[in-house]
Amino acid sequence: MTVLVVGATGSVGVHTTRALLARGTDVRALVRKASLPEGVTPVLGNLRDEASVTAALSGVSAALYTSPHDPDEERLAETFARACERLGTRLVFCGVYAGGLRRFVYERFLPHYRGKLRIGARMHRSPVCDVVLAPTNFYQNDEIIKADILAGRYPLPAHPRGVNRVDLRDVGEVLARALTDPAFPAVTGTLAGPASISGRAAAQTWASALGRPVEYQDAESAWRPALARGLAGQKLADFGHTYRLLSRIPVPTSARDVALITGLLGRPPRSYEDYVRDTAADWAATP
Ligand SMILES: NC(=O)c1ccc[n+]([C@@H]2O[C@H](COP(=O)([O-])OP(=O)(O)OC[C@H]3O[C@@H](n4cnc5c(N)ncnc54)[C@H](OP(=O)(O)O)[C@@H]3O)[C@@H](O)[C@H]2O)c1
Repeated sequence: MTVLVVGATGSVGVHTTRALLARGTDVRALVRKASLPEGVTPVLGNLRDEASVTAALSGVSAALYTSPHDPDEERLAETFARACERLGTRLVFCGVYAGGLRRFVYERFLPHYRGKLRIGARMHRSPVCDVVLAPTNFYQNDEIIKADILAGRYPLPAHPRGVNRVDLRDVGEVLARALTDPAFPAVTGTLAGPASISGRAAAQTWASALGRPVEYQDAESAWRPALARGLAGQKLADFGHTYRLLSRIPVPTSARDVALITGLLGRPPRSYEDYVRDTAADWAATP
C-alpha cells in the first residue's frame, strides 16, 4: 500500500509521515524540494502544477491533503481534489472545517477563514473524500516561540477561560490510521485535545517543566513580534488572525470531540503537560 502525503515537510505532514513510517507504510510525498526523512519517496512537484499532482497520485491507494498557508490555497486545493476525483484516489483531509450553522457563524464573523472554510466544504462534498478532520490549535505551535520560552517568557495569547489544543503526534497517528486502516470509519469531526488551556496555564506548565519562571505575555506588542521572529508571509498573517481571535474568545473542550479522538486513537489524547515535558527534554538534549 502506497500513500501520498501533501505538505510532508510541514507541521501536520511531518507527524503524519512519522506515524505512517512507524506503521511500515510505503510513503510518497509531493514536495517542492527533496529533503525528507529516510524511507519517504519524494516526488518533486508543486500543487500549482496539475501534471505533477497527477504524477504523484499515480498508483497510490490514498492521499492526505493539508492546505498550505498560501494566498492561492483555494485554487491549490481544487487542483488536488479534482485530480483525486479523476483518478478515483481516496482523499483524507485535515484542516479547517465547520458544517451547518457553525459554518454560517464562522463565515459571518471570521472573514479571514472564509477561504479555508470553503476548502473544507469542498473536500467534504467530494465523493472520494470520506475523512474530514479539523484539529484544534496545535501544542506544537509553541515551538515557534522556543527562544522566548527558553528566555523565560510565553508570548502566545489564549483566552483566560482556555483554548482547546491538541498534540500533533496524536493528529499524525489518527491520519496515518485513516490513510492505511481499511476498518477506519468515514468521519467528519474535530480532532481535539483533552483540555482547554489558558495562556497563563501554558506559561506555568513550561515553568514547571523547565524548573524556572516563565512569564505569560499576552500584549499584542509582545506576541506579534514573537510570531514574526519564527514565521513569514501568509503563514504569519494566518497566525496573526488566529491568535488575535484566541486572545478574545475561549475554545471550550467538548466531551463529544474528546470521545471521537479517543475512539480513533484507541486511547485518550495526550495532555499538554505530556507534550511540554517531552519537548523540554528534547530541547535539553539538543539545545
Ligand atoms: N497551526 C494550528 O494550530 C492549526 C490548527 C488547525 C488547522 N490548521 C491548518 O492546518 C493546515 C496545515 O498546517 P501546517 O502547519 O501543517 O502547514 P505548514 O507547516 O505551513 O506546511 C505547509 C506544507 O505545504 C507545503 N507546500 C506549500 N506550498 C506548496 C505548493 N505550492 N506545492 C506543494 N507543497 C506546498 C510546504 O512545503 P515546503 O517545505 O516546500 O514549504 C509544507 O510542507 C493549514 O491550512 C492550517 O490553517 C493549523
